[in-house]
Amino acid sequence: MKHIDVEKLIAKQRKEIARHDTLYHKIARPEITDHEYDRIKRELVDLESQYPEFLDKGSPTNQIGDDRNEGFDTYLHRRPMMSLDNTYNEEDLNGFEKRLQKLLGVNELIYVIEPKIDGVAISLTYEKGDLVRAVTRGDGIKGDVVTKNLKGIDYLPTHINDESCPEVIEIRGEIYMTHSEFNRINKERKKTSLDLYANPRNLAAGTIKQIDLNISDNRKLDIVLYGLGYCSSALFTYQHEFYEALKGWNMPTVEKYWMANSIIEACYIIKKLENLRDTFAYSTDGAVVKLDAIDQQRESGATSKSPRWAIAYKFAAEQAETKIQKINMQIGRTGTLTPVAELDSVFLAGSTISHATLHNEDEIKRKDIREGDSVIIEKAGDIIPAIVRVLTEKRKNETPPYIFPHKCPSCGTQTIRLSGEAARRCPNLSCPPQIRSRIEHYTSRQCMNIEGLGEAVVDQLVSKNLINNFADLYKLNINDLLSLNNFAQKSSENLIQAIESSKKCELWRFIHGLGIHHIGLTASKDLARSLQTLQTLIDANEDDLMELDGIGEIMAKSVNNFFSQYSNKKIIARLITYGMNFGNATSTQDTSYDLKGKSFVLTGTLISLTREAAIQLIENAGGRVKTSISKNTDFILVGESAGSKLTHAHKLGTKIIDEKEFHELLKN
Ligand code: IVH
Repeated sequence: MKHIDVEKLIAKQRKEIARHDTLYHKIARPEITDHEYDRIKRELVDLESQYPEFLDKGSPTNQIGDDRNEGFDTYLHRRPMMSLDNTYNEEDLNGFEKRLQKLLGVNELIYVIEPKIDGVAISLTYEKGDLVRAVTRGDGIKGDVVTKNLKGIDYLPTHINDESCPEVIEIRGEIYMTHSEFNRINKERKKTSLDLYANPRNLAAGTIKQIDLNISDNRKLDIVLYGLGYCSSALFTYQHEFYEALKGWNMPTVEKYWMANSIIEACYIIKKLENLRDTFAYSTDGAVVKLDAIDQQRESGATSKSPRWAIAYKFAAEQAETKIQKINMQIGRTGTLTPVAELDSVFLAGSTISHATLHNEDEIKRKDIREGDSVIIEKAGDIIPAIVRVLTEKRKNETPPYIFPHKCPSCGTQTIRLSGEAARRCPNLSCPPQIRSRIEHYTSRQCMNIEGLGEAVVDQLVSKNLINNFADLYKLNINDLLSLNNFAQKSSENLIQAIESSKKCELWRFIHGLGIHHIGLTASKDLARSLQTLQTLIDANEDDLMELDGIGEIMAKSVNNFFSQYSNKKIIARLITYGMNFGNATSTQDTSYDLKGKSFVLTGTLISLTREAAIQLIENAGGRVKTSISKNTDFILVGESAGSKLTHAHKLGTKIIDEKEFHELLKN
């Protein structure tokens, strides 16, 4: 291959892997199995080592991903949260042992072997025995603070009541969801025709990052602890001793672990563990082999990404050959068209498989998947089976390439694919598979905030055909509501009143409620603040929009597309005739804009107002709230127990204000 071609190939693969990293870590919606991911990553590692002239520190082969999201405080881990090196064969395990023997200058090493839990990494900080913080891995250095989202795990002690507990200890572990809880939630969703979650790992990751705690309360998470992050005293000599201490403190730790005197013995144990994998409460995708002696762990140290004293052995994904009968299109709740292959049924990894996801248009093209093809499918853990490759040698000559439909198969609307996006979407607000979720979004707290119109009520209204889009809400009458379960005269009147009041809401709420792709809460507020009226927004062209603060090209295109749809225009026209009236106000509270252009970062717990209220006040006054601090931050608002952001602010010389000063600033 020419040098220039290698460089291009490496760049392309890096971009692709970075995309999969974001899908997995940030939004918990991976498109490929872990095995497929490991395969393409290994291809890149091989290329990079073959052509070291293209090595780059920023390559995803040197990163461990980043799970941080907007809306959470960040916390600097006292010790980095690293990743584990993966292996799929015994040869690599032998290599692991040889490296350690050489490094430590000893032949006999003792290992602990335990299940690798397929969940989401978490770090718990206990200070003076009290659980003060739960933090996600983030980028390994800083993570998101999710303490509140752990409240539902009632068996996790919030206090370690034991004299042996050190002053400060950071304990690492995994948040997971049991198979039974996962199945319960999906069963409920099936009843109401909602999209099903793909696997327990993704649902656990989504739940731990849930901002609306009412949702996470109904989803039961679990936790298992297996690692020592930081300990203020040298309390433990062996890894297994740490597990026993955890048990003594009533902490949930690995339910089973094994000791081995050599890697040969470890391999034997891993086989035993693989046979037991279905008996654990959590999904296990492999085994972890760790050095037992903590001083040896310390001595062997770590590479930039993972410790040298531990390694993950991943169980092989099970594969089978089958044939694609047909390619069907599923329309997700936000209008994304997902191609699904209908397969000749085949038994694989404990269940009969008759469907496999094909992800998107490009994936079909890349693998050249056609109807009638013989294919190899793979299933790892609970993930929806995927097509690994097409057996082109078995293809009949006349099979034509698959043409991805450009019209929505459900409502016939022309679909849209924005440049730079993998997904094709149906933009029709009344497209049947999208109706429920679009209305739920519209009525939710961060949009129109219509109290009493939650998922269950929307579901009944749609099932009874009383509403098909959010404009229909404003036509509902008392009798319609009285026909629903659990609705009496008073509750019906209250809901009608709440719907009526929503007509006078702030413009940003309405814009957010429209569910325009790429237009989240912040962009909705930016649009409302800059344009002031709905009509100006509808009339704005792409160039006008791109000139606005905070609005980029993709957003501008998406807004433009949305308002150019005839069916969307019709719904908006109806809403206006029903008396929707935002006036010129972006807020019903404060429109002084004294803080226009000023950026704020919040840290610690606020006492006089909630975090949400503080954000609202800042934004109403024209300011912006950012999650991380930089030299461009104007103010840092500090509450109680402020964390690392405050230290950073001191270093950067950012203006630090407390709650009293904050209120004064707003008054002025
Ligand atoms: S020990 C340096 N033990 O797997 C990290 N990790 O793929 C030491 N994991 O980031 C971690 N089960 O989130 C360890 N029994 C176990 C584990 C485990 C799952 C996760 C952990 C890690 C990831 C790497």
